[in-house]
Amino acid sequence: MIRVDNVRKSFGAFRALDGLTLNAAEGTVLGLLGPNGSGKTTTVKVLTTLLAPDSGDAWVAGHSVLRAPELVRRNLGLSGQYAAVDEKLTAFENLHMVGRLYGMNRRNATARAHELLADFRLTDVSGKRAGTFSGGMRRRLDLAGAVVARPKVVVLDEPTTGLDPRGRLDTWDVVAGLVSEGTTVLLTTQYLEEADRLADHIAVINHGSVIAEGTATQLKDRAGSERVDITVRDGSDLQAAASVLAVATPGLATPEVDPAALRVSVAAPGGHSVLVRVLAELDARSVPVTEASLRRPTLDDVFLQLTGGSALAENRKIDSKEGVPA
Ligand SMILES: Nc1ncnc2c1ncn2[C@@H]1O[C@H](COP(=O)(O)OP(=O)(O)O)[C@@H](O)[C@H]1O
Ligand SMILES: [Mg+2]
Repeated sequence: MIRVDNVRKSFGAFRALDGLTLNAAEGTVLGLLGPNGSGKTTTVKVLTTLLAPDSGDAWVAGHSVLRAPELVRRNLGLSGQYAAVDEKLTAFENLHMVGRLYGMNRRNATARAHELLADFRLTDVSGKRAGTFSGGMRRRLDLAGAVVARPKVVVLDEPTTGLDPRGRLDTWDVVAGLVSEGTTVLLTTQYLEEADRLADHIAVINHGSVIAEGTATQLKDRAGSERVDITVRDGSDLQAAASVLAVATPGLATPEVDPAALRVSVAAPGGHSVLVRVLAELDARSVPVTEASLRRPTLDDVFLQLTGGSALAENRKIDSKEGVPA
């Protein structure tokens, strides 16, 4: 239903997309996961015919963005990185206007607007101007606008960036609802948890090309074995904890120390016995432990491993400087 084949796109000398290739089967969610600047929005613009690729091609519902852009647009709903609602119009008027733009008559546009206002929990505020809405409400209205014409494919560019946890959960519900109706979704995100939760298939991109892909489980398997995490009460005990973990996992990677979180983490195949030994040894050394856990690697671990560790940290720094987008 979505296909991107070897797409390249440069801005001047800068190559934003570098041979990007993606596929999504009908009724599935493809998660495009990457840090700021990795090419997510550029991919969205190519798929939505807002930007022509320099080379390669992309298809939506079987239609080429180069040869049949009009058919691509007809089969596609877009919710951009920044929610696009008309602030001067009410929630109802926003959706009604979109319906009319898609060629619905007044009655159908009105019925569809009311239906979506209910689906997206906006009925109570249907007569209020969008300009007065919170970020989460705006995003819901924007998502509703993207599905007015019941497109086969919906593209969501960072739908939860800048939302509070409630807004994020709401958005996840909406995406789940779309998929249950058979819509194919391309969702970009910087949040590993979000891709894990929503996407059937995840493509991790960096510098405009896919560096890993698979299901969340497959990606986690790539990050290797289970991990043991130990959180100590005092920063002065971090080194002791690290050396205990190192001794308990001979011949494996050096434990990673996160001083801010007071946590030491290590890959530990057969983690159960490692955890037991580590706790016994820390107890013998009288090192106070506030948390100890055995876990499967998260997508965060995968990403850090694939990108050499810095991309995500850099990304969060940029994010906090830019503040929360509207
Ligand atoms: N119109 C443009 N002109 C110049 N550079 C651009 C333009 N659009 C995007 N870029 C650059 O291309 C890279 C990818 O951008 P983008 O696709 O927006 O990334 P993402 O959405 O993953 O944060 C970035 O380095 C960005 O600065
Ligand atoms: Mg973007």
